[in-house]
Amino acid sequence: MAMSRPSPTPPQEGEEGLSHDCKELLSSLPTTNGGRFTHLYQYEGFWYNQQFLLGIIACQRHFQAHDSDLLLATTPKSGTTWLKALAFAITNRARYPFPQHPLLTNNPHKLVPYLEMNLYYGNSTPDPERIRSLGLFSTHMPYTSLPQSIKDSNCKVVYLCRNPGDVFISFWHFSNNLKVPETQSPISLEDAFDLFCAGISMYGPFWDHVLGYWKESKERPEKVMFLKYEDLKREPVAPVKRLAEFLGCPFTPQEDREGMLHDILKLCSFENLSNLEVNKIGKTRHGNNDPYEVEHKHLFRRGEVGDSLNYLTTQMIERLDQIMEEKLQGYDLTFQVSV
Ligand code: A3P
Repeated sequence: MAMSRPSPTPPQEGEEGLSHDCKELLSSLPTTNGGRFTHLYQYEGFWYNQQFLLGIIACQRHFQAHDSDLLLATTPKSGTTWLKALAFAITNRARYPFPQHPLLTNNPHKLVPYLEMNLYYGNSTPDPERIRSLGLFSTHMPYTSLPQSIKDSNCKVVYLCRNPGDVFISFWHFSNNLKVPETQSPISLEDAFDLFCAGISMYGPFWDHVLGYWKESKERPEKVMFLKYEDLKREPVAPVKRLAEFLGCPFTPQEDREGMLHDILKLCSFENLSNLEVNKIGKTRHGNNDPYEVEHKHLFRRGEVGDSLNYLTTQMIERLDQIMEEKLQGYDLTFQVSV
């Protein structure tokens, strides 16, 4: 798929209500055809559709983090839904008995909204009281683009990442299942892969996103916790214990004896969440006038490690492995699609 050159952007649908400086900013940014999302903007080194980008800019301008806030950060399709469920269950465990738990009747994204994709979506102005009542937020924003108050405060950030092959395949399925107004036809695996390898994906380049949080977790481990989906899948007990400690609510010896951690793991498991009515038939829009309707069932596909090996050719796997090796060279971090 051909990339368009950075060029002045024609007005997009929904630009009418925007301030002059927002319109000017949008028209100054490089744009490209992102496949299913035909019009992506490059802002501070990463690619976004217009509504998410406007949400980021609004959030950068207006969100004031408090020291007690907790932020869950991911690239799309890295296990965000799982992390939200876990963090919500851990931090609210004293409030809700398991049989009446909100996770049984609410999709995790409703309980832990995205800053830029829900609260500030498309330049929305969220109710400050709602913001303050939440305290637990999520984002796909890269570290460098986070609002300054998040970086400057003692607010903690948990980053979950995942093997790029599985992220890519998960997003390919997900985006082809989205009802996207601008294009009805699905994107082929090959075209989507070429774009991903060129760094063009929603919130991509993938490797820059991961590296931003990785570096910060090394420099400020008390501020940023770095987790891998694969580690959580392999053996969740130790990482989830560490997660509870990091979030400031470690499991007590009594909770250990009573199996609290195991109850949380069971509540948040793929098997449990994906079989709940709310996640089988529910639907969500990111914000008012959001053209993309997400059917919750598409947030729970297979939930396995290495599924990309069922889709990518040997050449594709080698190409992605090589890109990751080059991009992560010099950092104590590895990702291999070929496992
Ligand atoms: P697959 O498409 O590989 O199945 P996100 O939540 O960031 O959108 O990521 C979605 C991916 O996480 C999907 O991966 C989905 O199946 C998987 N997932 C969702 N809930 C999960 C859970 N509770 N445990 C493990 N994986 C989960």
